[in-house]
Parts: sequence; C-alpha cells; structure tokens
Amino acid sequence: MKVRAAVLRRMGMPAPYADSQPLSIESVELSPPGPGELCVRVLAAGLCHSDLSVIDGSRPRPMPMVLGHEATGEVVEIGDDAVGFAVGDRVVFSFVPMCGRCEPCECARPVLCEAGAQANAEGRLLGGGGHWRDAGGIDLAHHLGVSGFAEYTVVSARSAIRIDPALSPEIAALFGCAVMTGVGAVVNTARVMPGESVAVFGLGGVGLAALLGARACSAFPLIAVDVATDKLRLAQELGATHCLDARDPHMVAAVREFSRGGVQHAIESVGSEQVLAQAYAATRRGGTTVTVGLPSPDRRFSVPAVSLVAEERTVKGSYMGSAVPLRDIPRYVALYRAGLLPVDRLLSHRLPLEQVNAGFDRLARGEALRQVILFPD
Ligand SMILES: NC(=O)c1ccc[n+]([C@@H]2O[C@H](COP(=O)([O-])OP(=O)(O)OC[C@H]3O[C@@H](n4cnc5c(N)ncnc54)[C@H](O)[C@@H]3O)[C@@H](O)[C@H]2O)c1
Ligand SMILES: [Zn+2]
Ligand SMILES: [Zn+2]
Repeated sequence: MKVRAAVLRRMGMPAPYADSQPLSIESVELSPPGPGELCVRVLAAGLCHSDLSVIDGSRPRPMPMVLGHEATGEVVEIGDDAVGFAVGDRVVFSFVPMCGRCEPCECARPVLCEAGAQANAEGRLLGGGGHWRDAGGIDLAHHLGVSGFAEYTVVSARSAIRIDPALSPEIAALFGCAVMTGVGAVVNTARVMPGESVAVFGLGGVGLAALLGARACSAFPLIAVDVATDKLRLAQELGATHCLDARDPHMVAAVREFSRGGVQHAIESVGSEQVLAQAYAATRRGGTTVTVGLPSPDRRFSVPAVSLVAEERTVKGSYMGSAVPLRDIPRYVALYRAGLLPVDRLLSHRLPLEQVNAGFDRLARGEALRQVILFPD
C-alpha cells in the first residue's frame, strides 16, 4: 500500500532543518506483514533526541531510512503466526525487538536481545525483512524496528506491546521511549530506594521522565540540573527539591552540598561525556552514576580508576531503561492513570507530519520537551 512517510536520505545536513529539509515527506510503498509481523496504523509518534542524532550524523544508521522509534498505533493486519494480537488492538512499540530465545532474552534482559540488536543495526525487522520501498523502487531501512514517522508501519510482533485502548495516542506514544527509558533508568538500572538522593542531569523528555520516576520512588533530595531555565522551572513543579543551572561553575559543589556529600544516584540524560563526568563527580562514596545519554561513538569518558575501588563507585549504562517492556509499559501506564507518574507534562507540542523538520529544529535548540506528530483519522 501507499503510505506517507518521513524519509531521511542523508545524515549531517545543515541546520536549520526547516530550510535543509533532511526529512522528506514522501509517498512510499509498504508491503504487507510477513510471518510474525503486524501492520499498524500509526496514531502518534514522538520526536526523541536519538532521532536527531541520526539526522545530524552523530549516531549513524543505514540510509535511506524511514525514521521514528517512539510511537503508538492500532493493529490493522496480522501476519501468520503473530499470536497474541487482534485487529483493533492498540500497541506501543519497543525500539528493541525481543526474540525471546537468545541468552539475554532468556535471562530477562530483552533490551540486550542479540537478534534485535543486529536487526536494528542493519535497519531491518527481526524476521530479516524490509518492507519499505520508495517511488523509484529503492529499499528504505527501518528505524529500530519501528519507523513511526509514517501513516502505517510494519513491525515484528516482538516489537509491540498491547496497551489500554482508552489511553490517548499523544500520551501513549511517550511510553515507547521517553517514559520507558527515563523511568526505567531510575527503577530498573539505579534501583532507587525511598529516601535516597538522586540528581538528574539534563531535563529533556528522557530526563524529566527520570525525574518523575525518582519522585514516584520517593527519592530525597531530588536535584534537577539543566542549562534551560524553563526546564528547571518545570522540574520544580514536578517535584524537584533543588534546581541548578548547569552553567554555574559551582553546580557540582552545590549538588554535593544539597545531598550532604554527594548523591547516591546521578542520572546523566544529555548525551555528553562532559556532563557524565560532572554526574560522576556529584556522587558520594558508594554512589552510582547511570548514563542514559547517547554520545557519538568516538567520545571517551575517563575516571580515576582507584575511585571505583577505594570509594566503591559504580558507573552503569541504561539502554531503554533496562526494561522488560511487556512488564514495564503496563506498570508505567497504570502509575500514570493513578496520578503517580504525570507523564502528560512531558508533552510540549503537537504537530502534523509535514512539520517534522521544524520540530527537530526546536528540539536541537532545546526549546521543546516531547513533541508528538499526530496522524489524522
Ligand atoms: N539510553 C536510551 O535508551 C536512550 C533512549 C532515548 C534517548 N536517549 C538519549 O538520551 C539523551 C536525552 O534525550 P532527550 O530526547 O531527552 O533529549 P533532549 O534534547 O530533549 O534533552 C536534553 C536536555 O539536556 C539539556 N542539556 C544540554 N546541555 C546540558 C548540560 N551541559 N548540562 C545539563 N543539561 C544539558 C538540554 O537543555 C535538554 O533539556 C540523548 O542523548 C538521547 O539520544 C537514550
Ligand atoms: Zn528515543
Ligand atoms: Zn533475544
């Protein structure tokens, strides 16, 4: 079928993107779902910094590609053997497909799924196939098995999580990346306990979701750090006990002071090794630094090696919130519904597919939280 989709043909085009238009809105061909796959009508898709990192080339992916990895939609067609789904089901996508058979999947660490990582690196679906073709007959890559910036998409059933159909699409989409990643970094990776101190560095969609997760865990004190004053103000409204401007040369010392000698958990959600170093410096003896941001692959991070030992410090990476998506997404949705995780506060803009480039300009300038593309009925 013919589908309107946002296609990235070349990475590294100059900003502003509203002028250079790295994403072109094209009518492309989407082939039907194969075995174990679903065709989904996309209802909403969020703009994440990880999409921007593909656009600006700092996180290279196969080209050309139908972009977008944070999305929700309605199942419209089911391939053979895609058990557990019915037409009309609402789903959120996991941006790592879970094969269920590799060692990490068997050990309840589906974020590290080996077949999923390989399929994602190659820009195809878990089953091996590709479904996108442009008007000239050229194959287009899938983005993290999702390709949500399109009216319809085909995904592996192992990339889909059924959700409550009553949840509005603009909110549901956020669970696919920002919420699963940010809340999971706190709950699954750091395993924050009530009364433990937390500092979140970088208050975009992911960092603010981490802040909400830390609040839900009764972290105290809860310190928020960013360079943008409007984000610091919002963090305060969302329960941060202290808000600090990252440009202040005494910022790290202030985090250490407010937490009486350093935080137990520092969450880095910027994607900068300099900020990661600040986060590490802000932890106390025995503290844990969780890094969520995705810097370009050539970046290096160094610490005094002895501090890991003599001060029992830990540095942990957190991909997709160390999630078990089938367990975590329904839990986070339930917390949202109960008012304990107000993730609707992450939504800053709604836009049509045609304005996706301008949306990425806003994200690059730090002027947006989560912007969600809404597809008309
Ligand atoms: N680990 C994962 O699975 C995963 C998933 C999604 C996103 N990410 C990564 O997480 C990072 C954040 O994503 P996002 O979508 O929230 O991005 P975003 O652009 O919305 O947010 C980044 C925030 O960092 C702030 N910032 C910039 N420089 C800073 C500094 N020096 N100190 C403190 N704050 C600073 C910005 O003002 C902004 O609020 C990106 O690197 C993204 O690629 C990782
Ligand atoms: Zn993302
Ligand atoms: Zn697997």
